[in-house]
Amino acid sequence: MEKLKIAGGYPLKGTVRISGAKNSAVALIPATILAESPVTIEGLPDISDVQILKGLLEEIGGTVDISNNEMTVDPTSMISMPLPNGKVKKLRASYYLMGALLGRFKKAVIGLPGGCHLGPRPIDQHIKGFEALGAKITNEQGAIYLRADELRGARIYLDVVSVGATINIMLAAVRAKGRTIIENAAKEPEIIDVATLLTSMGANIKGAGTDVIRIDGVDHLHGCRHTIIPDRIEAGTYMILGAAVGQGLLIDNVIPEHLESLIAKLREMGVKIEESDEQVFINPAEKLKAVDIKTLVYPGFPTDLQQPFTSLLTRAEGSAVVTDTIYGARFKHIDELRRMNANIKVEGRSAIINGAVQLNGAKVKASDLRAGAALVIAGLMAEGITEVTGLEHIDRGYSHIVEKLQGLGATVWREEMTKEEKEQLKNT
Ligand code: EPU
Repeated sequence: MEKLKIAGGYPLKGTVRISGAKNSAVALIPATILAESPVTIEGLPDISDVQILKGLLEEIGGTVDISNNEMTVDPTSMISMPLPNGKVKKLRASYYLMGALLGRFKKAVIGLPGGCHLGPRPIDQHIKGFEALGAKITNEQGAIYLRADELRGARIYLDVVSVGATINIMLAAVRAKGRTIIENAAKEPEIIDVATLLTSMGANIKGAGTDVIRIDGVDHLHGCRHTIIPDRIEAGTYMILGAAVGQGLLIDNVIPEHLESLIAKLREMGVKIEESDEQVFINPAEKLKAVDIKTLVYPGFPTDLQQPFTSLLTRAEGSAVVTDTIYGARFKHIDELRRMNANIKVEGRSAIINGAVQLNGAKVKASDLRAGAALVIAGLMAEGITEVTGLEHIDRGYSHIVEKLQGLGATVWREEMTKEEKEQLKNT
């Protein structure tokens, strides 16, 4: 087990290339189950979630090759094996296996998904969608059993705008008989990416990226080649880093339109940003002004950038309020930032940050993926050495983070934890 050590307080500059989107990858990989011949996905991020999904596809009989960030899945020999435990519990996105297996085999047995602990994360809208398509669903000792004699298109109104439910229903509906209409659908770019892959496989989907998606089911889906979109959350994380400690940071392989809410907020803070087709340049910021943010569904400010943004706000002059309307308990990073001298208090769904303060290096623990990103940014802003544990969370979503930071001039390295440190970590 390793920890990350960061010698903070130094400016960073240079170019960082963004990897393929994690939250697309984790849906695109299960989507390959639906094809009847091999599917190739280009530009996958090198993250542990991708490896876990590869293992899951192999468990159900798929042949999966990965090289140079390109994955080819041959789904022809897959069977609907029960996947009640093990790898399924390691990531939230294993719920996409439900939609994909149901679409192809009309049955599935999947353990309840794991993933970051951000407060309650129900899947009632996924279940509601599958039931509307004709599936019978039971929860037996922590595993979800899904069965359908046949799937029939239906009109499904989502009571909560959910990325996962929207994609999962699409995965099942592409193989249902007739038309499915998803109303109040989520509009995140990852949904368009999944719809693009499914369309290349022969599916008939209209309206992805709007709040009404129409799907006309087809009998067969075939293999294809697909290039994943860049990771807007990874790009946003490096943009925030650029505003915090950059001496000129060029973010390469990004779709700036995916990050308009972040760009607007950074500009409001006083950061000068130049955008071109696939790049964003973050100029060094002398003085930062505090701004309030409220996370919302896309195209609002993404909840996944709320935690990294909070680290940046510790450097801003004045008082800022960060409100998370998506995950009201996504504040586990705050205690850790306080250890580093941040002046923050949490009230309900909001964190109030009083700045500007100079952060100090400390021993901190990443409780979830984006908390980890927040602590890495804080470590690079802080005077002295910061040690971040809980790297398994960061490795789920940030491809080659150490190498990318080193490429920008950061002094950051992984170090094996001592036996005592591992014991201590277990007890916290
Ligand atoms: N919700 C329900 N019922 C459902 C589904 C969701 O009440 O059946 C609620 C959730 O509890 C939450 C809100 O609806 O309050 C939105 O959840 P959503 O379903 O959109 O989230 P998700 O699909 O589980 C994805 C990303 C998250 C990201 C959210 C919001 C993946 C694998 N995960 O989760 O990413 O925070 O959308 O944008 O795509 C991350 O990358 O760190 C991460 C947590």
